[in-house]
Amino acid sequence: MKGLILSGGKGTRLYPLTYTRAKQLIPVANKPVLFRVIEAIRDAGITEIGIIIGDTGPEIREAVGDGSQFGVEITYIPQDAPLGLAHAVKIAHDFIGDDRFVMFLGDNVIQGGISPLIADFAHHDEWNSQIVLTAVEFPEQYGVAQLNADGRIERLIEKPKQPPSNLALVGIYMFDHHIFEATEEIKPSFRGELEITDAIQWLIENGYSVYPHIHTGWWIDTGRPGDMLTANSLVLEELTPEIKGTVDAESEVDTRVTIQDGAEIINSVIRGPAIIGQNTKIVNSYVGPFTSIYHDVVIENSEIERSIVLEHSTVCNIPTRIQDSLIGRHASVGINTLRPKAIKMHLGDHSRLELL
Ligand code: DAU
Repeated sequence: MKGLILSGGKGTRLYPLTYTRAKQLIPVANKPVLFRVIEAIRDAGITEIGIIIGDTGPEIREAVGDGSQFGVEITYIPQDAPLGLAHAVKIAHDFIGDDRFVMFLGDNVIQGGISPLIADFAHHDEWNSQIVLTAVEFPEQYGVAQLNADGRIERLIEKPKQPPSNLALVGIYMFDHHIFEATEEIKPSFRGELEITDAIQWLIENGYSVYPHIHTGWWIDTGRPGDMLTANSLVLEELTPEIKGTVDAESEVDTRVTIQDGAEIINSVIRGPAIIGQNTKIVNSYVGPFTSIYHDVVIENSEIERSIVLEHSTVCNIPTRIQDSLIGRHASVGINTLRPKAIKMHLGDHSRLELL
């Protein structure tokens, strides 16, 4: 089997974080979501992986390289524009050939990996496709499945205004070569994309077998800032703690905390689950549960919890606790001590600031 990861698209819902950065490279518990996807496919025994890339392709190539750091072989497949998930499958035909394959959306994080799913599909040669469904609160934001009484798929609809069920399509799909017939036959949807839901519906209508697997653990599509923070909390809960950096005698560090290489904790309290990145300094501060501070960050005289801070940022002398926040790369959050007393901001487009 081969793997196909979709890492094109625009990431507009995560602006401003994704103006300059591929959304799939934003870290969750200090590891880019895309790396987690590659590792999940590798752990299922698949080493030939194609990655669909768009405008952010150069950055993705630089971060992932030839795949040897993960023990896999990567082939990049450029997509001129985000014309849809089924369009991405179509342009991957040469790479996939006649092999069976798993397609994994590069912004999805799923509990428990995909090894059992892949084993299931590999053992059922007669299945043309397997899809993953899970119950969600807002099905209208996803592809939705309607099942019939015997649990087989009757209909799939992309982001329906009136969802026929609460079963969303998780961004993990398994196919054999018949999917390429479907991607040739379907037409673009109302949003101008070749939808993978329409391609799967085509398979069903043309007598091919598509099996649903109901996922009961957690699953997050990290498309929006709130989803990113939720994914961060869920992954942090499952992290095996490790202390590699240094913690001074005045600091207090919980049992569920990971401190990466070169990090320094000075006169501070860290409550887990939390992770502190490489060469980051936490000085006279409090880092609360569900927080990921990435590499080369400085947090000084401040308190922060349930947040993500990206690399090379500083948070200094903040008098109130920062909570539920996403702070981008090279950001500086501080206090102006000069007169006149005023708030100074250099906020990018689509930034959000909530003052007390
Ligand atoms: O996350 C699950 C949902 O993913 C499913 O429930 C939906 O049925 C499916 O259509 C998809 O919906 P999204 O609106 O969330 O897809 P999004 O545009 O965010 O794209 C998902 C990933 O695929 C993302 O990493 C970007 C990449 N992509 C997207 C498009 C449209 C591509 O590489 N090429 C593309 O043309």
